[in-house]
Amino acid sequence: MKNDLVLIIDFGSQVTQLIARRLRELKVYCEIHPYNKITEALIKKLNLKAIILSGGPASVLDLRPPKPPEFIFDIGIPILGICYGQQIMMEMLGGKVASGSGTSEFGKSYITKKNKNITLLDGLFLNTEYEQVWMSHGDHVSNIPKNFEVYAKSENAPFAIIGDIKKHFYAVQFHPEVAHTLNGKVLIKNFLKTANVSFDWDMKVYSEDAINKIREKVGKKKVICALSGGVDSSVTAILIHKAIGDQLTCIYVNNGLMRKNESEEIIKLYKDHYKLNLVYANEQELFISNLKGIEDPEEKRKIIGKLFIDIFEKHALKIGDVSFLAQGTLYPDVIESVSFSGGPSVTIKSHHNVGGLPEKMNLDLIEPLKELFKDEVRRLGTELEIPKNFIQRHPFPGPGLAIRCPGEITNEKLEILRNADSIYIEQIKKHGLYNKIWQAFVVILPVKTVGVMGDSRTYDYVCALRAVTSVDGMTADYYPFSHKFLSETATTIINNVSGINRVTYDITSKPPGTIEWE
Ligand code: XMP
Repeated sequence: MKNDLVLIIDFGSQVTQLIARRLRELKVYCEIHPYNKITEALIKKLNLKAIILSGGPASVLDLRPPKPPEFIFDIGIPILGICYGQQIMMEMLGGKVASGSGTSEFGKSYITKKNKNITLLDGLFLNTEYEQVWMSHGDHVSNIPKNFEVYAKSENAPFAIIGDIKKHFYAVQFHPEVAHTLNGKVLIKNFLKTANVSFDWDMKVYSEDAINKIREKVGKKKVICALSGGVDSSVTAILIHKAIGDQLTCIYVNNGLMRKNESEEIIKLYKDHYKLNLVYANEQELFISNLKGIEDPEEKRKIIGKLFIDIFEKHALKIGDVSFLAQGTLYPDVIESVSFSGGPSVTIKSHHNVGGLPEKMNLDLIEPLKELFKDEVRRLGTELEIPKNFIQRHPFPGPGLAIRCPGEITNEKLEILRNADSIYIEQIKKHGLYNKIWQAFVVILPVKTVGVMGDSRTYDYVCALRAVTSVDGMTADYYPFSHKFLSETATTIINNVSGINRVTYDITSKPPGTIEWE
């Protein structure tokens, strides 16, 4: 990597990854490393231009607070401490931190400027006395070292922004990386300017760098990847294919729980267009027969997960001599928390893991998207020239339509569901709403109701339409379609899908509901 590097030292804040995200938005390359894994070699990297100390849940007043190594303050590059990062910086440089009683601040707060014109505050307090910031602290700095000055304060934080301008050490009590600090990104950019960082990193650089790293790691060995057709696995596979070509084999398992025409589209794109080594495991009957009579959602998930692993393993063994498993794990999937007793611990959402297979088959993992957020993966996919309709796709769960078919799964119900879903998604696209929605799908309910079509009585299934907006799938709200859209869609589904005579719209948010119905 030739680009300038900014090192983010992580003390376990929930929002550390947002610092990285802001830097990437500013076209700056950065790496996050846990505070207890900072080596001199890392610090001595020629292109290291600045360091940011993240927030964190610990207290500087604890018996053994987490600390960065002392030597970071001696190398002569700018350092920005954020929240806990500010406090530990003060503690190590001769300031004081006091405990919170009565002065804690959580949430929105307003800072005012002390009359100093410095680069760090360029573009802040432009036509206003106040800047809105987001605070989240119990302890606070109560005394600063002699060479530090105060640049801004809030009611409860007399040292909201402080700095030693000669050394370009700055520290803020609030979190500039979160959206509620309205000009936080401006402040971060100003800090980077004091470090003469060049703003020249982009997804093209990321992609080239990732390709080089994959080549270096893999050498002449073989890699396998489970392709689902979703954005994450697609971008992972194409990136790795660019790096090592035919040393990569992708396995696509058709479990009979995919949407209409989905398997055909996947094969067409990967096998015919990209000429990827693709094993197509058509196991529809196996899955459907194993799910016969199963109604419990968790049992469905377990059966599907186990079958998937068995099939995947069977094909991996056939390919033979495989050393690596590629996964499209994203940053939000990696709960990388700094554990204060040991090293950092990594937990990956179970449905992203080919449960236990890496250990069983002695496979190393390759996870080239691990540092990225979903929208960044989409940008990387665009950089790799993956067709738009694959890049913009809504998420689709591993267990597929099984969890959109409450009660027993039958081929008849799946067929009805596929047809209704396809019409619904077409409608959404036709109205230009697809990219405004996080996820939209149809659920077929295990309920039949009476209707009348023409002169005849009908007795058919009810379906529910679901569409939600969300940032990360953790919380969600229903999409406010117009009544016109809803009635047009309901009519189109009922007129065209035999087996459905009633359509409902799910207006539950998450929480209390989940996005999927099972
Ligand atoms: P829920 O339903 O938990 O969904 O609100 C949040 C997001 O996760 C997806 N989801 C899954 N993805 N395996 C997956 O790969 C699963 O078992 C699973 N369950 C839910 C869901 O589609 C939504 O995007």
